[in-house]
Amino acid sequence: MSGRKGNNEGVDKGGREMLLLVKGAQQVVRVAGAGERVKLGASMGDLAIISATQHDGVSIAVQQDGKIAWVGPDSEVGAKFPGARWGRVVEACGRAVVPGLVDAHTHPVWAGDRVHEFALKVAGASYLEVHEAGGGINYTVEQTRAASEDHLLNLLLPRLTRMAKAGTTLAECKSGYGLEVATELKMLRVLERARPLTPLTISSTFCGAHSVPKGMSAEEATRLVVEEQLPAVVEAREKGQVAVDSIDVFCESGVFNVAQTRTILEAGRRHGLRLNFHADELTPLAGAEMGASLGAEAMSHLEEISEEGVAAMAKAGSVAVLLPTTALVLRLPLPPARAMIQAGVPVALGSDFNPNAFCLSMPLVMHLACVMMRLSPNEALTAATLHAAHALGKAHQHGSIEPGKMADLVIIDAPRWDHLVYQLGGNDYVITHVIRAGKVIHERHD
Ligand code: NIG
Ligand code: FE
Repeated sequence: MSGRKGNNEGVDKGGREMLLLVKGAQQVVRVAGAGERVKLGASMGDLAIISATQHDGVSIAVQQDGKIAWVGPDSEVGAKFPGARWGRVVEACGRAVVPGLVDAHTHPVWAGDRVHEFALKVAGASYLEVHEAGGGINYTVEQTRAASEDHLLNLLLPRLTRMAKAGTTLAECKSGYGLEVATELKMLRVLERARPLTPLTISSTFCGAHSVPKGMSAEEATRLVVEEQLPAVVEAREKGQVAVDSIDVFCESGVFNVAQTRTILEAGRRHGLRLNFHADELTPLAGAEMGASLGAEAMSHLEEISEEGVAAMAKAGSVAVLLPTTALVLRLPLPPARAMIQAGVPVALGSDFNPNAFCLSMPLVMHLACVMMRLSPNEALTAATLHAAHALGKAHQHGSIEPGKMADLVIIDAPRWDHLVYQLGGNDYVITHVIRAGKVIHERHD
């Protein structure tokens, strides 16, 4: 922290020490202005953009603590920051800049893979058939329980780096392949150890109720989560060993029913956790209505949400985290994204990276959201930045390019930002720089 506050305070004779200047941008897509945390209804597609004029590009000034100090015309930088010493200057060369992407739903800590299930699914096996045959989550649980903490960390780090190269600067990361105290804590500790080693900001979620352990009923598993796992996680949090923001449950037929999910979420709430769970993915269980009644901050999937569920989420202000990769891989019916937006639900996006849906690229997720769910490109950007940050309770710090927020930025190798979503894959070529908290974490070399 520099200890200096405000846009122009701290200017002294020798000039201010600044972390970074991005200059010469053609377009800075701020997404939101004036501290908006959500952009509901039609405003979701109405992006705040500052464009270059014929003679003047757009600059972003970043102060020492990694926060954005100012955004404006290149020609005004000298007057705003007289004699400033810039730690680094990035020439944007007529390119577009968007906020760092936020991935609102990932399961990145696991060992083994499920490549063998891919052919089964393509041949017609459903997700729940694979799950009931002992594959799916429970297969990954066996592999993850057997893996050492170091091994899991070594598997996790390159995955996070790949996310960062594709533009993600903040990701929600879940536990959930332990289903018992020791492995759930091991996964959360791995996320903790990753924090200083990875370019991303991590928000961790306890998902001990991701599946029912073999040989147990869902009722028994519910008691195990509430009476053993959650207290152990809370104790580790109090001791400063792990930092957990949210609690998650896979609310699904054959996994945890609505009543069991409610019990687990209420227990998490008593411990101050945010509620962010898998609802109405494969079966219409009215999970969204239950979540809204608890004031859940976010619910994911929602392919099978009812009209009442959409209305309840809008009323409660719960974020709908849509996951097009899973819908694609499992050939699911699509969630009613347009009806959600029209009803005033804040819609966000996540990659759902997990051994079933192996995708680390938010630009691909945004592309799929446009093509499959008919979000406009502008809506997809709001969903993958501001709303995803809001789903994680972090829209005050992340998700838009505004003074006071973290300087999380993606520079795109084109004068208009929507090349990022127009191109199908190939992020390595579309993105030139990824910046997190004012530091360049990825740079294209070609
Ligand atoms: O969001 N639906 C539950 N959880 C994950 C899948 C996890 C897995 O299959 O390993 C999901 O799709
Ligand atoms: Fe998931």
